[in-house]
Amino acid sequence: MIATARANTNIALIKYWGKRDSQQMLPSNSSISVTLDGFYTETQVEYQTGLMSDEFFLDGERVIGKSLDRVQNFMDRIRRVTGMTQYARIQSENHVPTEAGLASSSSAFSALALAATQAAGAELSLPELSRMARYGSGSACRSVYPGFVLWDKGTDEESCVAAPIAMEAWDDFRMIALMIDHRAKKLDSREAMKRTQMYSPYFEAWTQDAERMIQPMCSALQQHRFAAVGKLAQQSCLRMHASLLAAGQWYLQAESLTAMNRVQSLQDSGVDVYFTMDAGPNVKLLCEAKDVDLLLAQFSDFTAVVCRPGEGVKSLD
Ligand code: PMV
Repeated sequence: MIATARANTNIALIKYWGKRDSQQMLPSNSSISVTLDGFYTETQVEYQTGLMSDEFFLDGERVIGKSLDRVQNFMDRIRRVTGMTQYARIQSENHVPTEAGLASSSSAFSALALAATQAAGAELSLPELSRMARYGSGSACRSVYPGFVLWDKGTDEESCVAAPIAMEAWDDFRMIALMIDHRAKKLDSREAMKRTQMYSPYFEAWTQDAERMIQPMCSALQQHRFAAVGKLAQQSCLRMHASLLAAGQWYLQAESLTAMNRVQSLQDSGVDVYFTMDAGPNVKLLCEAKDVDLLLAQFSDFTAVVCRPGEGVKSLD
């Protein structure tokens, strides 16, 4: 009745931004990500008799409010699927700043999906686990898998699945996270997506354009064409943020723009570096291993964490 799991975060190269069905968590567009080795969540789930509801502790602190509701809703789904009747004590350690646009929810719900189903005695296949994780947080369905992952929007619940992209390992691929603000963001990604869908005149264009970028990104990844991958990823990020900006919201801070401008100057001088950003102000640089030292020197005024493609979710028992 107890199990522990670890999952890495993933960062999208082609962003998921918008839902066509928020009950079933079906995205408006397909997306592509890389699971990283630098940031992860470890979660232990223990079902106990006598508990009146699920209890959730994050980094040793008891969580209440909206974040607890979200975890409890997710646990209710796990109970429906596994037949478990008890409530659980859930203890998570986040080795990634929480809700700061560093995809902490992707690692959190992927680790919780595995620990909670295993503790309930259920052995889910990876596709089943990925589908389950999606209900906690859309991007979590990609963190179940290692390396480069495609989340196909599909046509229904059944065909809406994430799976690794068939390709050779890309050991030289690097992402450098520039830590601009560790604090939890004021606007969570769920709400920001909803506002984009409701208020952005660019939302339709965003979803169609994102879908068109999927095939070119898959081929560029399969052929290890770094510049093409970087350009497409940066474009996807800018277009996602543009759709949000047009709804009157943004995550960019002055330091984010400083980093983006610096990347552009480096590109102008011939360095193969690109940026991406998620629902937060932190900027992630995409580069190859050979350029890491140069980039760490160029961005020495930022706290930087270098990540490589990482593993999928795994049991720690
Ligand atoms: O899965 P969520 O609700 O945390 O949304 C993720 C949104 C982005 O990180 C901005 C994009 C993505 O595809 O991961």
